[in-house]
Amino acid sequence: MHAAAGPAWAVWLEATAVGIAMRQWLWLYPAVEIVHIVGFVVLVGAAFMFDLRLLGLARATPVSALADHLLRWARLALVLVVPSGTLMFVAHATEMSSNPAFRVKLVLIAAALVNAGLFHRWPFRAVGDWDTELAAPLPARLAGALSIALWTGVIACGRLLAYF
Ligand code: HEM
Repeated sequence: MHAAAGPAWAVWLEATAVGIAMRQWLWLYPAVEIVHIVGFVVLVGAAFMFDLRLLGLARATPVSALADHLLRWARLALVLVVPSGTLMFVAHATEMSSNPAFRVKLVLIAAALVNAGLFHRWPFRAVGDWDTELAAPLPARLAGALSIALWTGVIACGRLLAYF
């Protein structure tokens, strides 16, 4: 056991009942981590499949139908990913808060969400004009490519947390 050192809020978080349970109950941390993994597999998997459609694959499938189906799952998956990630953060708040991979990961998540928001407010509004067979407009293709890059970065940073 090491004495927790770091910002006061992180020391406090680690000492909460939740933080202690996450560290001491043998199966709790791995169970929460599995929930995190299932969640981000669905989230990033759905985002990638949609992004590939924007980049021109499976053009016979309407973009609007794919959005209805996949993006609903991506949003639902956030309900698994965010609470499970928060629980793991609470368990090791002092280490995580100073971990550069964690900071980069949060920035990349924010960037991916902003990218998705901009896509919906801008090129997706006119999806009726390019729903099937036609190439998506350049801003939509750029949003798709950027989304793949950003989510890949988030996964890489998540995995790198253990190495910093
Ligand atoms: C939104 C999409 C997210 C993705 C794609 C993602 C991805 C990952 C990945 C790939 C891992 C490594 C899993 C493993 O090696 O077993 C991980 C672990 C972790 N994530 Fe996330 N994550 C996301 C969101 C979050 C959020 C919002 C938080 C916190 C607020 C968070 C906190 C953590 C923590 C603390 C770990 C544990 C690292 C460890 O125990 O070594 N994640 N995440």
